[in-house]
Amino acid sequence: EIRKVQGRRVWDSRGRPTVEVEIELASGAIGRAIAPAGASTGTGEALDLRDGGSALAGLGINKALAAVNGEIARLLVGRDARLQAELDRAIIELDGTQNRSRLGGNASVATSMALLHAAAAAADQPIWRYLAGSAKGITMPLPEIQIFGGGAHAARRVDVQDFMIMCPAASTFSEALEWTAEVYRAAGDIMKRAGKLQGVADEGGYWPAFTSNEEALDALVRSIEAAGLRPGGEVAISLDIAASEFGREGRYALALEGRQLDTAKMIDMLGGWLNAYPIVSIEDPLAEDDADGFKEFTARYGSRCQIIGDDFFVTNAARVSEAIRDKSANAVLIKPNQAGTITETFEALAVAKQAGFRTIVSARSGETEDVTIAHLSVGWNAKQLKVGSFSRSERMAKWNEVLRIEEALGKEASFAGWSALDLAEK
Ligand code: PGA
Ligand code: ZN
Repeated sequence: EIRKVQGRRVWDSRGRPTVEVEIELASGAIGRAIAPAGASTGTGEALDLRDGGSALAGLGINKALAAVNGEIARLLVGRDARLQAELDRAIIELDGTQNRSRLGGNASVATSMALLHAAAAAADQPIWRYLAGSAKGITMPLPEIQIFGGGAHAARRVDVQDFMIMCPAASTFSEALEWTAEVYRAAGDIMKRAGKLQGVADEGGYWPAFTSNEEALDALVRSIEAAGLRPGGEVAISLDIAASEFGREGRYALALEGRQLDTAKMIDMLGGWLNAYPIVSIEDPLAEDDADGFKEFTARYGSRCQIIGDDFFVTNAARVSEAIRDKSANAVLIKPNQAGTITETFEALAVAKQAGFRTIVSARSGETEDVTIAHLSVGWNAKQLKVGSFSRSERMAKWNEVLRIEEALGKEASFAGWSALDLAEK
């Protein structure tokens, strides 16, 4: 039984305020969680409620906090924290809007995740095990890790948002991180030698001091090689184009190259990259309003590449269902704060899995020490996890938490590897 619901203001990895919720049960068990925040947000996301005005650049979260400490607390006190779906539904109803704009998606996601933490604590289990029921059939997620940051996370220094690697040929999650550490360090050395090392972007990837998107891709391939690993064999490339940031109504403005492309030309350019580089995954190749482009891209490249919808799906089960029908992607990025509650997040994941779509649990560009998503990726057997780069502790906290889970699973921990991508090995 819930005794107390307490919201408080804490600060995220960009130094911006965010909502933490702590839920205390009558037994004394406590669940605590913090809302993350995106920069390249999709229009259909649960609304991250901000105060506006001049203080904190309008990013204050006092309204969301008031909702937690007032209406939401009154709704939840006295209820059974284990009834996640029922309580999430009650929060959704209490809000009453399409996009959680009254109480705030930040208020609802932090509360919903705190409920999950409290219920798992009451059961005296880590969240991944509480969700999975047992260790049987669980696979450790394939990590998708950023080496160069770009797009909205690096003042649009390059158009593409994430230049990432995946290590599907590693034999364990732990080994995948070790290979990543080698590539990340090699990338830093290469940037330094070229006189281009200028710190890191929002998610910890190196600042993209490049003159073209291809230059970044070339640097990525060289980093993998310099780490003594085989590009495409042991370590593959993954991109988040985040095309909604520079494309709308079928026009894509590539600022870095001073070019405007239509949908067909955009698809041709990405297809060219697929042919020239060992790319196994592309996220948001086209803008959120370009469903036909997504369809065309998936028809052409879906058999050889994972095609992820992020801004395109905004972790919404109905949108995922549409895409399954239209074959307009083959993978779904799963972000709890896009959906607004754990229950809605799980629904999007379940619909995707049922249709054989791949699933990737993901962090946001604004993060904290909260490691809930590490547990979701394992407990829901999503098979992939994306949390940014291999530096900055709001990122490392998640990778390190998965290491602890892998250790707890011991021999039962099998690594998703290539099977997560469901592609023929390169
Ligand atoms: P965001 O970026 O959190 O800024 O939206 C992450 C992503 O696009 O995957
Ligand atoms: Zn994205």
